[in-house]
Amino acid sequence: MKRRVVIAIDGPAASGKSSTAHWVAERLGLRHVDSGALYRAATAARLRVAKGKAPAKWVEKDVLDAARKHVGLAPTTHGFVPEIGGAPADEEIRGPLVTQHVSAVARMQKVRDWVNEQVRDAARAYSVVVDGRDIGTVVFPKADLKVFLVADPWERARRRLVQQLQRSPTDKEIAEETDRLVQRDAKDAQQSGQAADAVLLDTTYLTQEEQVDRIVALAKAVTARADDTSAG
Ligand code: CDP
Repeated sequence: MKRRVVIAIDGPAASGKSSTAHWVAERLGLRHVDSGALYRAATAARLRVAKGKAPAKWVEKDVLDAARKHVGLAPTTHGFVPEIGGAPADEEIRGPLVTQHVSAVARMQKVRDWVNEQVRDAARAYSVVVDGRDIGTVVFPKADLKVFLVADPWERARRRLVQQLQRSPTDKEIAEETDRLVQRDAKDAQQSGQAADAVLLDTTYLTQEEQVDRIVALAKAVTARADDTSAG
């Protein structure tokens, strides 16, 4: 039986982890698991219970109840999509209200345990590419390959806006988005980290294709080495 592979991709907000992880998984025939999408889905599920309004106080037990009751991870050809109430929730979880509150939710330890359980379940069943903030440090400290993606904040903001607006953003829009990203990085700092054995990849001057190519090459090298070692 072929052994399961885990590739961990971590990095700050909007560093391109999810899209990169998606394409790496597709190229290597692995499954992509987006841990951030689960934190977002837990946040969105709690907002739904509150009829779309942010609760006055975010209580760990309420978020956990909403996540357990309403959020699931549904398999697709190349990965998983988070579902809320049995329906795909990809658009809902990317909305501004979720983005505003997700960092507070992600600081709740029981929510972190719940997300990590979903991610580890997926990795028991499939070879996976998992992206997040603490995948190489906490969730899979023995991952076959760990990559830490960074990019200049202005460039991260520009890319995120192009994706959201489907047009070239103005400098003012990029400056405002840069502020939001830097603030979110600060809120997430406690639960984010680069593993000592992670490969640091600065994507500021790389195209999406180039960064995917680099990670695919690294993944092929480490998995070939691991297969050699296990063979004897
Ligand atoms: O794609 P983006 O950088 O906007 O963020 P994301 O990956 O969708 O993650 C959303 C939020 O979830 C982050 O801002 C963190 O607060 C939290 N998160 C986390 O704490 N640990 C992870 N492994 C992944 C995400």
